Amino acid sequence: MLISKENFNKQLDNKQVDLFTLKNSNGFTAQITNYGARIVSVLAKDSQGNFDDVVLGYNNIDDYVNSEQKYMGATVGRYANRIGGAQFSINNQTYKVASNKGYNHLHGGIVGFNAKVWDANQISETKVELFYLSVDGEEGYPGNLTTVITFEVSEENELKISYSATTDKATAINLTNHSYFNLLGEGKGSINDHIMQINADGITEVVAGSIPTGKTRPVANTAFDFNEPTVIGNRINDEDDQLKIGNGYDQNYVINGTGMRCAAIVTEPITGRTLEVITDEPGMQFYGGNFPDAKTLGKRGDVYKFRSAFCLETQHFPDSPNQPNFSSTILDPSETYKSTCIYKFGIITND
Ligand code: GAL
Repeated sequence: MLISKENFNKQLDNKQVDLFTLKNSNGFTAQITNYGARIVSVLAKDSQGNFDDVVLGYNNIDDYVNSEQKYMGATVGRYANRIGGAQFSINNQTYKVASNKGYNHLHGGIVGFNAKVWDANQISETKVELFYLSVDGEEGYPGNLTTVITFEVSEENELKISYSATTDKATAINLTNHSYFNLLGEGKGSINDHIMQINADGITEVVAGSIPTGKTRPVANTAFDFNEPTVIGNRINDEDDQLKIGNGYDQNYVINGTGMRCAAIVTEPITGRTLEVITDEPGMQFYGGNFPDAKTLGKRGDVYKFRSAFCLETQHFPDSPNQPNFSSTILDPSETYKSTCIYKFGIITND
């Protein structure tokens, strides 16, 4: 079901909130709002040719602003995932960022990119471009950071997200998209019977608070090995300290290989829908939707329940600014940050 543009017609922070519809010639559709640079809906075909909305969310701007689920479909930044102790140093200068998860920093702080109204420009029927200037000191981060994101649908039923950013002072950056997927259709039950495949031989090991130790833990012979397609729910109650810390699946995978490559393929056997995640990022957080049953009702009036969605958030590793073993997430004024994530939708084929 398409969401009405009217439901997003509102002024927030002196800016106009809006809803943009991107559609290809097959009918594959994505709707994007500039409130948090969010994916509001994705209409994808099943193997019978029926379209359904496969991302959780709300059908109006007020629910996005007021929901206890702050990151539904949102762009997360400046730094997605955790920064341990809510501080880091660049060139011997320590920066304290907002601590919004115990003593730690999560998803950009108290008012992250998910809660900002971005400037927007719909370029064509298939492409929208969003801009946001995050000022020096916002949530404790150094530097004026200008971010540009494009969302584009292709004829191959891909939703491509391209990020770029520049700064006037060295800063930490790690952008991702926080869509909650359910290939049965949003609000249509648990994701535990979806089949997951993740091209990763390791996860970044964490301690309480999901803060990395700096080590990679091999997935072989654990509940985290999805190199072969495996039903998500099969091993979710295994005895494993990392599963306990995450309250289920909520780990950062070290994706095999480099460059643009397939990180994961999810298959839903009843509808036949598939989702492939392609990225140039080294990591991907697989979050199994371990949230309590939601209070704010979803787009079709459904209660979004525990484990009724999964997120596959392409990114650098958590807490990289404090982990010398991890690849750098510091952006220098002489550089341009770039990152790409493609969510490609399909149906099961027999070959
Ligand atoms: C995920 C994160 C989870 C949780 C969620 C938002 O990216 O890994 O631990 O914070 O976002 O509720």
